[in-house]
Amino acid sequence: MLAHPGDFAEWRDAARGLLAGGVAPEDVSWRSADEGASLFGGTAPLAAPGTVALPRELLAMADRVICHRDAAVPARLYRIVWRAARDLQLLARRTDPDIDWLRKADKAIRRDVHKMHAFVRFRRLGEDAGRESFAAWFEPDHRILRLTAPFFQRRFYGMDWAIVTPDARAIWHKEALVYGAGGTKDEVPDSDVVEDQWRTYYGAIFNPARVKVDAMRAEMPKKYWKNLPEARDIAPLLAAAEARVERMREAAVSMANPLTDKWRTRVADELLLDDDIQTLADVARAVDRCNRCPIRCNATQGVAGEGPADAQIMLVGEQPGDQEDLQGRPFVGPAGQALDQALAEAGLDRKRLFLTNAVKHFKYEPRGKRRLHQNPTAGEIDICRWWLDKERALVQPKLIVTLGGSALRGVMGKNMSVTSMRGAVHELAGGAKLVATIHPSFLLRLPDRTRAAEERAMFVADLAQARALAA
Ligand code: URA
Repeated sequence: MLAHPGDFAEWRDAARGLLAGGVAPEDVSWRSADEGASLFGGTAPLAAPGTVALPRELLAMADRVICHRDAAVPARLYRIVWRAARDLQLLARRTDPDIDWLRKADKAIRRDVHKMHAFVRFRRLGEDAGRESFAAWFEPDHRILRLTAPFFQRRFYGMDWAIVTPDARAIWHKEALVYGAGGTKDEVPDSDVVEDQWRTYYGAIFNPARVKVDAMRAEMPKKYWKNLPEARDIAPLLAAAEARVERMREAAVSMANPLTDKWRTRVADELLLDDDIQTLADVARAVDRCNRCPIRCNATQGVAGEGPADAQIMLVGEQPGDQEDLQGRPFVGPAGQALDQALAEAGLDRKRLFLTNAVKHFKYEPRGKRRLHQNPTAGEIDICRWWLDKERALVQPKLIVTLGGSALRGVMGKNMSVTSMRGAVHELAGGAKLVATIHPSFLLRLPDRTRAAEERAMFVADLAQARALAA
């Protein structure tokens, strides 16, 4: 009799005792507490668990598959371990009906775990002594809470939370994880402010030109929609997709052909001497002709910094992207839009900032008709520092905000960790201050939405700190 369906340790101890006692699978009747009493009334005493050598992979699978809702699972798993103890190659026999069943059941559990990781949505409950608390309701197909809770523990270590499912609940409180009885949906609030963030985020990442409804349904099956705040926007977004694609097509900038006239007729580079460069306009002209490193060969043009010559804050990015390369201006593509939104939220006016990059040409790898961004090497950043230093000398900002690792290297002249420098204010030689934060394109790449919302909030906080410092 298993008192806790889905509890691996309980099943394992029982199976060990039965194996040690030499009890054949056909002589065992497995029951679980939620099925009621056994036909035969009681539980036979088990032999003391002995040592049975079983493949590690089999135990790992049994640990997951025991969470399967099928009531026949404990018996079927026992039959498999019984056979595996006598046949070391059993797991490799993929056509064996038991092994075929085991692998399919394991796949179902892993898929359920993956969906739970992706679709749990926390609702804010409140705050207690500076710690925020959240709760989420979720209905997994199987009893997988034990398998998924450690993921949420790692991810949301710094807040208190509870995940309630029909079978059990996991509670992370004051840095201890405990499990309790199952619950109902109405224990968890229906909506909160975080919900709006989800919906805005989903709307922003929804790409109308890449709509694949079948793939979307496979990844986000309809049964999960009822607990997903963003799901109610799917139908309107899909309905508007075609018109949005048409508008995108009309507004599209066609990709520059590297063999355009501009490229072929570019004047031979003169070696620009320090003294020739007196203004930001000189920098912009000269950057376009720079051939100190090979990146410029395939770029459409050099992209110098932009903004008032007396700006108090200088924002340094990595390098121009596809759109910046075509338009000749920094931060005008998707990362630029993410940056603009964050700046607005932090109360910073882009027009009053000087925006530039550590590297002034777009480095990419051609892939079909697309140009895929490539990170500049440390050597390329170091070569390009000559331009960044010129811009710094001309603008003389009070505060420099570096966006990402390349920018930090560009300013500091050596590899430094953004994570360890973030959150503090650093003094630079010459008196300016430095604040290091992430690159906005990092936010666009985060697949996990909760994490993206958190990272975005921290990014806005960094920018707000910069505004306060400069003021
Ligand atoms: N990313 C950058 O680092 N800089 C830009 O100008 C655009 C995208």
